[in-house]
Amino acid sequence: MSTQPFIIVAIDGGAAAGKSSTARAISEKFNLLHSDTGSYFRALASEMLKRGISYTDHEAVISALKSLNLSTRITGRRADMELSGHVAGEEIRSAAVNQAVSHFAAITELREKLKAYERSQADVARAHGFKGLIMEGRDIGSAIFPDADFRFYLHADPEERSKRRAKEGHLDKVSERDRLDSSRAKDPLACPPGAIAIDSTFLSLEEVVSQVAAIISKQST
Ligand code: DC
Repeated sequence: MSTQPFIIVAIDGGAAAGKSSTARAISEKFNLLHSDTGSYFRALASEMLKRGISYTDHEAVISALKSLNLSTRITGRRADMELSGHVAGEEIRSAAVNQAVSHFAAITELREKLKAYERSQADVARAHGFKGLIMEGRDIGSAIFPDADFRFYLHADPEERSKRRAKEGHLDKVSERDRLDSSRAKDPLACPPGAIAIDSTFLSLEEVVSQVAAIISKQST
């Protein structure tokens, strides 16, 4: 039987900083459950837009949140959030969601609902026999798991990040989202004190993954 402890890895950073690709690769390497919290905020924003609810109408957002039941579907090592039993599709990457998501994400009640859900993913990972949880987002190392075993902060020049998004075929104003995400009152995007910052502007994905993996391997064995 393995005596290695369950680990929690937090990866934060701005839009298109390489968090998802890095977290996916690390989850495979160390058998961790991968939780992409950006997709959770996107799914909620998309659901609100579908219901015709604007981010300026906080009362309507709060009332819709009450009707939504959050659960988890695991596919391989990926944890998808189910909204009342349904996993959202590619519509969460649309230009409309890109434009609105940071505004919805600034609503305290919406963040609080997701915070409880995000924290519960550690138990989901344990219950399914994973060696740990890797969670990516904007406030994971600062607000969700400030005591995580490993906290990383990925960043890259905005120009490089815009190029990466365009290559994926997505229309996304990354600097504008960063500005909104870093200036909101509740749990803003920031490099948490003590986190390991990696600038990936001139690094390949493989180089970033190997830096992160080396740190995890060194400190967890
Ligand atoms: O990681 P992403 O670009 O898919 O995230 C979409 C948006 O969700 C991001 O612009 C802000 C919000 N978000 C957040 O506020 N907190 C998180 N932990 C993750 C995402």
